[in-house]
Amino acid sequence: MNLYGELAARFSPQVVRYLREAGELAARSGRHCYIVGGLVRDLLLGWENADIDLVVSGGGISFAEEIAAQWGGRVVVFGDFDTAKVLLPDGWSIDVAGARREYYPRPGALPQVAAADLREDLWRRDFTINALALSLGPEDLGRVIDPFGGLEDLRRGLIRVLHDQSFRDDPTRLFRAVRFGVRYGFQLEDRTCRLMSLAVEGGLIRSVSPQRLGAEIRKILAEEQVLPMLRMLTDFGLLQAIHRALGEMDWALLRGLPAALGVFDPPSHGFAYIAGILFHQPLEAAMEAAERLALSGAEERKLRDLLVNWRFALWCLNWPNLRPSTIYHVLSALPEEGLALLWAYSGAPPIRERLIAYHERLAKVQLSIDGNDLAALGYRPGPSFGKALRMVLQARLDGEVSTRQEELSLAGRLMGQMEREDA
Ligand code: CTP
Repeated sequence: MNLYGELAARFSPQVVRYLREAGELAARSGRHCYIVGGLVRDLLLGWENADIDLVVSGGGISFAEEIAAQWGGRVVVFGDFDTAKVLLPDGWSIDVAGARREYYPRPGALPQVAAADLREDLWRRDFTINALALSLGPEDLGRVIDPFGGLEDLRRGLIRVLHDQSFRDDPTRLFRAVRFGVRYGFQLEDRTCRLMSLAVEGGLIRSVSPQRLGAEIRKILAEEQVLPMLRMLTDFGLLQAIHRALGEMDWALLRGLPAALGVFDPPSHGFAYIAGILFHQPLEAAMEAAERLALSGAEERKLRDLLVNWRFALWCLNWPNLRPSTIYHVLSALPEEGLALLWAYSGAPPIRERLIAYHERLAKVQLSIDGNDLAALGYRPGPSFGKALRMVLQARLDGEVSTRQEELSLAGRLMGQMEREDA
């Protein structure tokens, strides 16, 4: 099978020229260069993918330097894995690695690496469908190399590990199996399924660092079919194996979340899902789970704010005749993702209307005065500035003041009052 036509149709003539030249350059010194991994799979499936991973026999870093010198690019080296990224002048980047075999000293550890041939390089990979290579050699440009039946598995729609040690070598592959299976609508092959269950029962997930687990989960949460993936992860006991708090989710809430994210489009959809999964958990358990996923400090704070405040916010939003400033007050205590979560959790029209009112109008209200204006009126800067400005904002939200002049005179009255109280 030859994929040169598909390759040429997918990339610009310039990129195709780069790839051909890489193959020619390698061949001139008796080496061979291949495209490997996800791009070959996705060219065959007709899926979007613009990540170019090259494997070259001989040194990866030295080859990256050669092609960068030829094309006027820059090389960023990734430490001791003989891998590098070539940044090309027109904004493209290509990852380059020397063909290698990997040895895993213990489950979940980073591998030790030694130079090897293409077959061994493909053998160390996760699934047959990801163990395909496309030759860039001038003699057989575009030829697909398939030592382990990847083409047949793509045709049959199967996710299959190459060998029994695969999940032991790298337990993050448990998550990848689910991601690829659901993404492509593929079955997990029977033996692969059994190995997955054994890996979970054997506690392999415990050996994986929070950074790697967090990265895998975020990749899943960035996929289109998040819910079926979460469902399958739960069925395999994979989320529970990270932390028990991740295994007790409110499916009705999560089912409503994609639509809610469409309405509110908060800064991080991935964080919204994580917070949704932990929505009903006691704070302590949720924060432990967050740690296992290596949430950033800022995300941990957002999660805490959400879990501490959402019930009260919801209770308030249920009251009739709420002042806009009260809606503002309770909802501004939540992270933006919290609006989507409350929307997904509560289908009640009055609550949803208030969430929308806050999102579309109230959250955007800004005063036309600030501390400088209060100082210009002759008041001494201090905590009372913040207090007065908050009260003016409240009045503004409730429609009691609307012009800059009205804001200024209310602020002046409030400052005068506070100064008299202090005196
Ligand atoms: N790979 C692997 N084991 C892993 C991660 C990656 O064997 N735990 C190999 C696979 O051959 C994979 C390639 O490295 O195809 C590139 O990995 P990555 O870029 O993470 O994934 P893609 O397969 O390109 O898939 P995606 O569409 O998610 O980017």
